[in-house]
Amino acid sequence: MQDKIIIAIDGHSSTGKSSFAKAIAARMGYLYVDTGAMYRAVTLYALRHGLITRQGEVEEDALAAALPAIDIRFVNDADGQRATYLNGEDVEHEIRGIRVSGHVSRISAIAAVRERLVYLQQQMGRRKGLVMDGRDIGTVVFPQAEMKIFMTADAQVRAERRYREMKEKGRTVTFDDVLANVRQRDYEDEHRLVTPLRRAPDALLLDNSRLSPEEQMEWFFNQLKRLNEA
Ligand code: DC
Repeated sequence: MQDKIIIAIDGHSSTGKSSFAKAIAARMGYLYVDTGAMYRAVTLYALRHGLITRQGEVEEDALAAALPAIDIRFVNDADGQRATYLNGEDVEHEIRGIRVSGHVSRISAIAAVRERLVYLQQQMGRRKGLVMDGRDIGTVVFPQAEMKIFMTADAQVRAERRYREMKEKGRTVTFDDVLANVRQRDYEDEHRLVTPLRRAPDALLLDNSRLSPEEQMEWFFNQLKRLNEA
């Protein structure tokens, strides 16, 4: 059997990175780490502890001081569903809501937060055999990852997917709001001062605007084969 590797997946929001990463992890028997959930969990902690003012300002020093007290874990339950735990509490549903989504960009732009989470992520990868998705995995967290993938898709297509998903979950949103949110997040991810989203020069580009999940898996296994033959 080949040695275990690290698969780093980055890209724009709502490109289906986590579904893709999860599917790869399941097929490879690897651990899956959703780093976006970690930034979301820190955001929820900040909201709950009054570290984000009504005007949306973050009390950065207080948050930096609280970081060691923020414990984030991923737990698989009996039917294989993954949940994110913040200090022992299942917060999976809450971190996906509009309140956390509205503040997470600002939290993820704080250097002390990034430093802490990058450190935790690197610890998780010590034994390899890991699929990690986020915005800076191939550039900052694991620049030496054996396989790097950068995912993107048309904003319109991403908004349609996200809109459908939110409707299914019973959330009340309009398509225009979802599209605006997708564009806004792209802008914020690409223009922030701290670790802006960018494609690592050696990352494979996967534009899945017109690819089914099955076609994406086929693409992945072709790439893996190439890597093994190289
Ligand atoms: O992938 P997501 O939408 O759950 O990510 C939530 C936010 O966290 C998003 O604003 C980008 C940010 N993020 C980041 O800055 N670095 C990561 N490695 C993962 C997510």
